[in-house]
Amino acid sequence: MALYLGIDIGTSGSRALLIDERGAVKASAGGGHTCQAPKPLWSEQDPAEWWAAVRKAVPEALKKAGARPAEIKGIGLSGQMHGLTLLDAKDQVLRPAILWNDQRTAEECAEIVSRAGGLPELLRMVSNPALTGFTAPKILWVRRHEPQLYERARKALLPKDYIRLLLTGEYATEVSDASGTLLLDIRKRAWSNELLGKLELDAGLLPKVYESPEVSGKVTEAASQALGGAVLPGTPVVGGGGDQAAGGVGAGIVQSGIASVSLGTSGVVFLHADTLKTDPRGRLHAFCHAVPGKWHMMGVCLASGGSFQWFRNALGQPEVEAAKMSGADPYDLLVAQAAAEPAGSRGVCFLPYLTGERTPHADPYATGTFVGITPSTTKGALARAIVEGVCYSLRDSFEIFKALGLPVGEVRVTGGGAKNPFWRQTLADVFGQGTRGLAAAEGPAYGVALLAAVGAGAFKSVEEACRATVQTCDPLEPKPPHVKVYNAFHPLWQNLYRSLKGDYEKLSKAVHA
Ligand code: XUL
Repeated sequence: MALYLGIDIGTSGSRALLIDERGAVKASAGGGHTCQAPKPLWSEQDPAEWWAAVRKAVPEALKKAGARPAEIKGIGLSGQMHGLTLLDAKDQVLRPAILWNDQRTAEECAEIVSRAGGLPELLRMVSNPALTGFTAPKILWVRRHEPQLYERARKALLPKDYIRLLLTGEYATEVSDASGTLLLDIRKRAWSNELLGKLELDAGLLPKVYESPEVSGKVTEAASQALGGAVLPGTPVVGGGGDQAAGGVGAGIVQSGIASVSLGTSGVVFLHADTLKTDPRGRLHAFCHAVPGKWHMMGVCLASGGSFQWFRNALGQPEVEAAKMSGADPYDLLVAQAAAEPAGSRGVCFLPYLTGERTPHADPYATGTFVGITPSTTKGALARAIVEGVCYSLRDSFEIFKALGLPVGEVRVTGGGAKNPFWRQTLADVFGQGTRGLAAAEGPAYGVALLAAVGAGAFKSVEEACRATVQTCDPLEPKPPHVKVYNAFHPLWQNLYRSLKGDYEKLSKAVHA
């Protein structure tokens, strides 16, 4: 039987997933990563942890599936976007990777806009504004703050593309992930030599760009051995996709009018676009899709599940202990308390800006904020306010789509949060729109396994692969009384950011002075 392997290099861990040629999931396995924040606003990871997780997950997935290495006909790679992995001439990692949710580069973003000749010029060249999470400002940061190390840098790779190098020996990327570097001409689907010139960056730093289902290289003898023989030398590795575009493929978001909302560490509202559309104010990302010749737009809430994870770590110790005794999941215990509170959380509001924000406020200084606490506020109300605050933030992105005249007829919910009925119901209620789940809610790893199948010729196109394999389930309608409450609260919630904006920056500068 022909099998396809999707490997996703996530933030909290990596995952390997095997599917057959009909798209049925055979098995999956994972391995964790740690994140470091050596300074305020920083977020880093050791790329060696990605490779260790892949070496654990791939053989384990094969073993679980009872599959033979010769059955794997193609591999697809996806991963957390925007991360900078700098390599020297011998492909040695020069410093920890700087991740998508790192906020150190406000000055470099301003430098990019100025070197480009202003925001409209930057938008003309790369269709996106300079955001602190993107890769180009990180390269400039290293050039300014670690010049000796920058001198030795020969390649700048995104997380999944570093794993591709270890698997195939090739320096390669593909259009969807390359879009998030801020160095890709999104219209032409090629590196922007114009912007590279203005930033005085050597094009040789960047890998070759492929379309997502194209074969970018083959597994080497050494990589096969490193994976314990789980994958044979010569197995083709396709371009794959950044985790959002890959997740879009996995959720069948390959035609206009369908949006997805992914509830992972970050929360993302994602829409397919047949032709390139940009938000003149640059609030939404306009990126190449993993579907050849197509694009996608997205809005990103940086700390979605990340906000709830913080809450569990900071205030959920009793639930963590109770869960140890009962075998329950501490998140479920916290969500149950949230669900017991009324919509609107008795006036408690939460702004989920723990690691700054991207959409609609590109603000590295914003922080997580509770407003409206009284002596009778319960932990459940705080938990509910977090879920509601994340959903309001995603609604902000959703409303920009609508304001730009991009029709959205269907919303599919993916990611860890999609598994929880309370999160999904709250999203439907805050959006005032029905949502659907996915029968195989396997996320980016599933999307790139499909791309590998397309690359190997099992399907004629990405669209055909999605039609044949992706199925929605569990339609869920909004509850009118809740919609009414959230419609009333959303503008009040939005106003809180406007009131606090200047103070966030002053506070951050005072703390980090
Ligand atoms: C997308 C983004 C995140 C990361 C991590 O622009 O930054 O979704 O890819 O998942």
